[in-house]
Amino acid sequence: MGLKERVEVSSPGKLMLFGEHAVVYDQPCIVTAVNQRLMVTVEAREDGKLVVNAPDVGLEGYTRNLADMGKKEKVPKAVKFVETAVSNYIEAYPGVKGVNISTRSQFSSKFGFGSSSAVTVGVVKGMAEVFGKNISDRELFDLSYKTVLNVQGVGSGFDLAAAIWGGTVYFVTGGKEISPMDIGELPLVVGYTGIKADTSTFVRQVAELREEYTDMVDSIFNLISDVVEEGKVVLEQGSQRKIGELMDINQGLLNSLGVSTPEIENLVFAVRQSGAHGAKLSGAGGGDCMIAYTPAFARRKVEEAIKYAGGVVIDVKTGAEGVRVEP
Ligand code: PMV
Repeated sequence: MGLKERVEVSSPGKLMLFGEHAVVYDQPCIVTAVNQRLMVTVEAREDGKLVVNAPDVGLEGYTRNLADMGKKEKVPKAVKFVETAVSNYIEAYPGVKGVNISTRSQFSSKFGFGSSSAVTVGVVKGMAEVFGKNISDRELFDLSYKTVLNVQGVGSGFDLAAAIWGGTVYFVTGGKEISPMDIGELPLVVGYTGIKADTSTFVRQVAELREEYTDMVDSIFNLISDVVEEGKVVLEQGSQRKIGELMDINQGLLNSLGVSTPEIENLVFAVRQSGAHGAKLSGAGGGDCMIAYTPAFARRKVEEAIKYAGGVVIDVKTGAEGVRVEP
């Protein structure tokens, strides 16, 4: 693999279909990649520096010496994933003399589409391309997952799998199983609540609930796992009514974990009453987006219902291509 001076890679955002929260506790989930992408441009430098530009989050010309990167200095949040990914890459594959990283997103980081994970995957993949390392998807996942755990401390890594493999993926915590599913685009309507939720906060909140009610919460996780297993079967069969019903059951279980909100429930009930087969929050809860599994004839009505209930319809297609090098 020859060295390239400059490479642009893009990776897709994601939506969780079934299994959030339980997947942090050794259970499976199903995630789909969406056709709004995060672009990362990687360029070699010779002066021992990392320079980051991320205009979407107001960051221009952020500069660090590579030699200082392991040191515990306060790093702006927007650059944490980039810097940690660069640092982990260099630790695994030494010999990098300097690097420019620029990011650009087709989606707002407020939606909960997994921008941090998409950036992380883009940085690692882009560096491998520029510095001539032929890394497998599994190595890309492992380095990216290490980065997410370094920065966030918690997380199953499901969003990295969507960013890398694309399509729709059956995934078990930490990548213990990553199985691409053979299904086409799903008839989802996506509604943004207008509220940006912090994933780690809700993962910790569920952990606290589990400390107090361990057996009960583990039973809820087991039920969520049943929903995921059944969800896998009915998604592959294409049974629309059942997919919707399982989303409703999954939503009820998430509500019982305390991660739903009035804004989410408003949208969920509005779309159910307007002809969706079923609906649930997607991600950690507390805000972000909800998804409605919707027959074609009801799509317009469901979109109107989301707007009327105070949400924003986000136009995305599911099952998008995973990380790729742009021409
Ligand atoms: O908020 P998001 O979209 O990053 O989703 C979080 C999903 C969780 O299961 C709650 C956490 C995880 O890392 O799996």
